Amino acid sequence: MQEKILKEFEEYLEKNLPAIEGFHPHFQRALGEILLAGGKRFRPMLLLSVVDVCAPLLLRNSFPVALGVEMLHTYSLIHDDLPAMDDADLRRGHQTLHVEYNEVTAILAGDALNTDAFYMIATAPLSDKTRVELVKILAQNGGSGGMVIGQAIDCEFEGQILKQSQLEFLHLNKTAKLIAASLLMGAVICELDENSKDAIYSFGLKLGLLFQIQDDIIDATQSKEEAGKPTGNDEQKNSFVNLLGLDEALKYRDNALEALHAELKKLDKKLAERLNTIVKGYFG
Ligand code: IPE
Ligand code: IPE
Ligand code: MG
Ligand code: MG
Ligand code: MG
Repeated sequence: MQEKILKEFEEYLEKNLPAIEGFHPHFQRALGEILLAGGKRFRPMLLLSVVDVCAPLLLRNSFPVALGVEMLHTYSLIHDDLPAMDDADLRRGHQTLHVEYNEVTAILAGDALNTDAFYMIATAPLSDKTRVELVKILAQNGGSGGMVIGQAIDCEFEGQILKQSQLEFLHLNKTAKLIAASLLMGAVICELDENSKDAIYSFGLKLGLLFQIQDDIIDATQSKEEAGKPTGNDEQKNSFVNLLGLDEALKYRDNALEALHAELKKLDKKLAERLNTIVKGYFG
């Protein structure tokens, strides 16, 4: 089931990238390049899985929303790789845009994906009420109250060790909120009740923290080829591996994974089963 949805989503993405009018020699190509380079599609698959379990008739109508989330995430990666931030030359196994073209192209391709993401959601074939709610959730979790403040703190505090509570704030905002928002957006499309939405979002935050721990472990343990992005790049960062050491970070990951399974039990049984396959597929 997951593979089928992923395949359909990839096809949808290829056919529905923003089409740019104008005579710029490479902007259209640059805009789609990192999106088309792959990636796990973790966030759109979370959103679509919730819809597939709870309101399957709305699955196709949710594709533009899932693409919007992936566009916003991809913008965050393009900007994360810029020389002013993590200065990375590879993303999803593909040369980064500022290396292939120039910084202006990378900055503006990111800007376009960020803005166009909201156009995808605003024009999705869903009710007005749902679309407004989706725009609000993505803005709240992806903007200054979420991913952006997380990235700002991540870069500002390079080389300075944060306290445990600050570390949690950083990673919750940088990564976990967008992951939790993806699940919540699925729940909003399905018009689930407030208690279910709260439980799904709270599960998503825990899943998102685990996801960042795993990402930090990847930085410390995988090759550039395996990861599709430069590794050993977090030396100055407040990564889980830097603060805890690799062995402790691995233990922390295993404990967080166990706690996540407990959290799954609070969700609707069918939904929990589906999310469990995603968690298993990624974390083993
Ligand atoms: C990488 O995200 C950045 C983080 C928030 C950890 P992903 O690991 O989801 O990257 P892609 O989408 O698969 O390339
Ligand atoms: C970035 O975290 C998270 C974003 C919000 C883009 P990282 O800097 O650790 O992501 P990678 O390792 O470059 O993918
Ligand atoms: Mg970064
Ligand atoms: Mg980075
Ligand atoms: Mg990383």
